[in-house]
Amino acid sequence: MRKAIIGNWKMHGTRPGALALAEAAATHVRKVRPECEVVLCPPAVFLYEIDAAIASSGVKLGGQDCHAAAEGPFTGDISAAQLKEAGCSHVIVGHSERRAAYGEHNDAVRDKAAQAITQGLIPIICVGEPAEIRQQGQAEAFVGAAARACVPEGVMPVQFLLAYEPVWSIGTGNTPTLDDIIRMHAHLKTLLPGAAVLYGGSVKGSNAAAILGLPEVDGALVGGASLKAEEFCAIVDAA
Ligand code: PGA
Repeated sequence: MRKAIIGNWKMHGTRPGALALAEAAATHVRKVRPECEVVLCPPAVFLYEIDAAIASSGVKLGGQDCHAAAEGPFTGDISAAQLKEAGCSHVIVGHSERRAAYGEHNDAVRDKAAQAITQGLIPIICVGEPAEIRQQGQAEAFVGAAARACVPEGVMPVQFLLAYEPVWSIGTGNTPTLDDIIRMHAHLKTLLPGAAVLYGGSVKGSNAAAILGLPEVDGALVGGASLKAEEFCAIVDAA
């Protein structure tokens, strides 16, 4: 299985900056033809232009969220079908920032993932524990339960990606030890046999090789470092 490197740009960037970043990633991928899959998840307003900019590079496109319904009166939301039409192959669901800001719980995340799969997208289902849960020694139980709850019933492992993102690691520069990552990923793979499990949380050029070198880690979901072309390309090279 090819490892997946996914850039989550969040709500960052301007149109020229976003295009330059996408073009830099596409140029790098065309040049080095990495063994990993590279997916960019820009803000939705840039999707169509970026889809054109990365054409025939092999770089893929993803949304940052989708609604659980196929369509309807949901002001401000984006459907999985619309993401698909804009050129996406993937969509992030259940990111901890959305769980925190919009009260998205596991049931909602599961419904979004199911809708994404229905529309032919691969949901990147995010799960991760807050700091206090890890301190209490409950990280594996907590994350395992979330993963079970968020993966729709009856789907095949190739239809989704799981991303283990410890909440306390996102955007902080702190990462779990490699042993902790191995333990969590092995646990998730036992619960969901065949599932690809990505790691996310403060992945950067300097730690990518160590994290991605673990056989239990099937890729990385990258936030801050995906906004700098050089850092992101270094992570792709590490994979
Ligand atoms: P980070 O974010 O790489 O900036 O820690 C990861 C994420 O939010 O997916």
